Amino acid sequence: MIRIDFSNLMQDAVGRNGLTKDDFKNIDTKKITEIIETRKYPELEFLDLHKADTSQIKELGKYASKFENLLLLGIGGSALGPRSILEALSPFHNFKNRPRVFIYDNVDPATLKNILSLVDLKKTVINVITKSGSTAETIASFMIIWKILQEQSLKLEEHVIVTTDPEKGNLRKIVKDYCLMSLQIPHGVGGRYSVLSPVGLLLAEAIGIDSDDMLKGAKDIHDKCMNADLWQNPAYLFSSGLYLMQQLKNKSITVIMPYADRLKSFSEWFCQLWAESLGKNGKGLTPYPSVGTTDQHSQLQLWMEGPEDKVVVFVSIEDYGVDINIPDVFQDMEGLSYLSGHSLGELIRIEQEASEIALAKNGRPSITIKLPKIDAYHLGQLFHFFEISTSVAGFLYGINPFNQPGVEEGKNLTYGMMGKKGYEGKREEFEKYRTRKSFEI
Ligand code: PA5
Repeated sequence: MIRIDFSNLMQDAVGRNGLTKDDFKNIDTKKITEIIETRKYPELEFLDLHKADTSQIKELGKYASKFENLLLLGIGGSALGPRSILEALSPFHNFKNRPRVFIYDNVDPATLKNILSLVDLKKTVINVITKSGSTAETIASFMIIWKILQEQSLKLEEHVIVTTDPEKGNLRKIVKDYCLMSLQIPHGVGGRYSVLSPVGLLLAEAIGIDSDDMLKGAKDIHDKCMNADLWQNPAYLFSSGLYLMQQLKNKSITVIMPYADRLKSFSEWFCQLWAESLGKNGKGLTPYPSVGTTDQHSQLQLWMEGPEDKVVVFVSIEDYGVDINIPDVFQDMEGLSYLSGHSLGELIRIEQEASEIALAKNGRPSITIKLPKIDAYHLGQLFHFFEISTSVAGFLYGINPFNQPGVEEGKNLTYGMMGKKGYEGKREEFEKYRTRKSFEI
């Protein structure tokens, strides 16, 4: 089970920048618990994902696993979750007898060109993921791949697996019209809360990860995170700790710092979840991705001595699954020989703690999440824990953590310029603003 250490958030450890137990007394856990229990927002359906039947995902995952390549098309929550599973559980994407995975989550033409030069579509299964079924980036790339599949006389129903809403959207219609293989993202589950749905689990199965292990992890942490007692609930403590840090101590940046290369994409997943869920009505917390030890040599200086506006969330790994001893060389060089006799695992663990202590000594707060190891079970726990914590943080701010109204205007202006019917006015607006640019170099 993951464990969470909040001690460096408290005044005892970090002095005037820290919280006292008393600071938590106004956190209305009753209200939060009520929001959750009454399912005030239908999007809280993500809480039930750990109970899902995975048989269809397993069946299609087995089918996908036979291909040489798996090309995933999606963006936002429809790509960040799958990518963090891939990177955490298959670091070099080279499982024996498993597909090579390509995740195309942008409309950068150079990337797609490169992917297409590497994969033979005859030996490729395409998983197109979009909850809404209409996201421009995903649909544009799908249209390109669709055309190539047709040109190569490949059977769409053998090469395409669609993951989308059970009923709504253009993609569901395409599934029906062309009898395509498909999986359903439960209606109430939004993009950034969907990693433990078929969005992430199909890829997991295709690369040989048992999706039930991920769901078991989520299930095992679920009840703890539903406890109405703040001091017994890690998700309530995490979200209210960071919320209070902003309200009382002006710390509005949340740095996420796992000490594992395999969790770099996990950091990006967290950043989307935290940013898109909480950044509303002039409120929110700004996420900042980083990785230890690498960013100790890049960012730590700023966190130690720069503006006092951050809380660092460390993710420490207890067991890396492997270790490498540092050999007995350079014995005549005092400045280097101290490393001999230790291991890389020891060094990285000590460095993580050293950063935590150094920050605390300088009055800079942090939280440490202790991960026993990076496997499907614990990754499932991390995902579920952060999803619950994020939605609870949203409730503390009094905002809806499940929508993203702020991204609509950019989409509408794009629709206008790309000629979508009904958006003609947006084209005019776009052109008007474009000509207002007054300073170019
Ligand atoms: O969290 C969200 O809802 C968004 O970030 C979506 O994941 C993203 O916009 C992609 O949406 P869709 O899955 O509908 O293509």
